[in-house]
Amino acid sequence: MSKVFSAHAVSVDGYISGRTPNGGEESGRGLGDAPMLFDWYTDGDTPSQVFGGFRLSEPSARFFDAIAARVGAAVAGRTTYEHSGHWGGGGPHPTARLFVLSHRPAPEISQTQTLVTTGIEDAIAAARKAAGGKDVALMGGGVLTSALEADLVDELILHQVPVLLGAGRSFFHELPERVHLRLLEAIPAPGVTHLHYEVVR
Ligand SMILES: NC(=O)c1ccc[n+]([C@@H]2O[C@H](COP(=O)([O-])OP(=O)(O)OC[C@H]3O[C@@H](n4cnc5c(N)ncnc54)[C@H](OP(=O)(O)O)[C@@H]3O)[C@@H](O)[C@H]2O)c1
Repeated sequence: MSKVFSAHAVSVDGYISGRTPNGGEESGRGLGDAPMLFDWYTDGDTPSQVFGGFRLSEPSARFFDAIAARVGAAVAGRTTYEHSGHWGGGGPHPTARLFVLSHRPAPEISQTQTLVTTGIEDAIAAARKAAGGKDVALMGGGVLTSALEADLVDELILHQVPVLLGAGRSFFHELPERVHLRLLEAIPAPGVTHLHYEVVR
């Protein structure tokens, strides 16, 4: 069975994006005033084999490409979708189909994207089907929290960046129950530590 995981760049104090200027709309990578969360994508000398244009340090490239190659479909929260400029009608991954989870209609959804308004279970089921045996990646703290609540998450990956942002959008939303994790790998790399956990069931 394919797995469901999330991989986020996160500050040490638990934010996946910074402050949004004037509380307004986001664009680009949607990180507000914290673009440094993704510096490790491009500040190395090893090209990614999956994402054209990314040049990472050697340990980051090895870890990042192994994870990226597993992705067959992605489920993003509506806020991530909006903050990423709808990925220009495409998706966050070069080959994986994008599913957007929301409670509302999304007129801007493109033909290569799929909107799901009937809940996290339906979004993950549809993404699994599209993934053709590969894994499903979750994007956004809200979507990740919904999936954890539904006990649908197998693995959590934190690309932990050594900064305390102090404010922003929190990775860890409130959960109704405790979730236990087992550390599978911890890989220190320039500008980031890759923490790979599995959810203990
Ligand atoms: N650092 C990183 O690696 C990284 C990765 C991804 C995203 N981000 C950033 O994270 C921020 C967004 O994260 P977030 O936690 O605020 O939001 P999010 O998870 O992207 O989106 C939350 C929204 O998704 C919809 N949603 C979530 N669960 C749902 C459910 N069970 N049923 C129906 N709809 C559901 C709702 O949309 P509606 O309100 O429309 O109903 C909800 O308001 C953005 O700034 C983005 O750029 C960072």
